[in-house]
Amino acid sequence: MAIRLGDEAPDFTAQTTEGEIKFHEWLGNSWGVLFSHPKDYTPVCTTELGMAARLKPEFDGRGVKIIGLSVDPLESHKGWEKDIEETQGTAVNFPMIADADRKVSDLYDMIHPNANDTLTVRSVYVIGPDKKVKLMLTYPASTGRNFDELLRVIDSLQLTANYNVATPVNWKDGDDCVISPAISNEDAKAKFPAGWKEIKPYLRITPQPNKVRGEGRAA
Ligand code: BEZ
Repeated sequence: MAIRLGDEAPDFTAQTTEGEIKFHEWLGNSWGVLFSHPKDYTPVCTTELGMAARLKPEFDGRGVKIIGLSVDPLESHKGWEKDIEETQGTAVNFPMIADADRKVSDLYDMIHPNANDTLTVRSVYVIGPDKKVKLMLTYPASTGRNFDELLRVIDSLQLTANYNVATPVNWKDGDDCVISPAISNEDAKAKFPAGWKEIKPYLRITPQPNKVRGEGRAA
């Protein structure tokens, strides 16, 4: 059955470049990003894995564990990782699932037969500490993903999990937010001491709550 936002992320046991993992146990209380690559030893995937490795400190800082997947065996992943280190200037510093039997790819519906019946598409699943799916992205094999966008969405997800705000078009961390329409002006007075600008009753702009003096980054 198709996975939808809000569903529990399916659990699995898999072989990875960092040993066998039980997915939910490996996630623990962290946020998680599970992302698939069509195939080992391919150019776009090589650049994506290099970028993900370089951005690992950014994911760590947000309490997010990242894990890649492709439908090739472990030995192939290990050989490819040497190339990634050589060409991208950084070693892969997160586990890669060896999904040669496509168990995880099938579980997460990562093979779209009308696009390609053997390789995965470029899927991204962001999973919350409650193990629920918070974001799904699906890119074709020919288009590398934008990992800055992924971090941007994680910032939004973590902010909106903790405050009654939503993030407007092209928002990035530190920008103004919109107050959730479900919050009355009366309740907003207590929740948003920095105030807000009411453009329409349903469009109220407020400074990002965890950037207002005295607040830290949302956990
Ligand atoms: C790539 O990662 O470069 C790629 C993989 C599969 C098909 C096309 C491109």
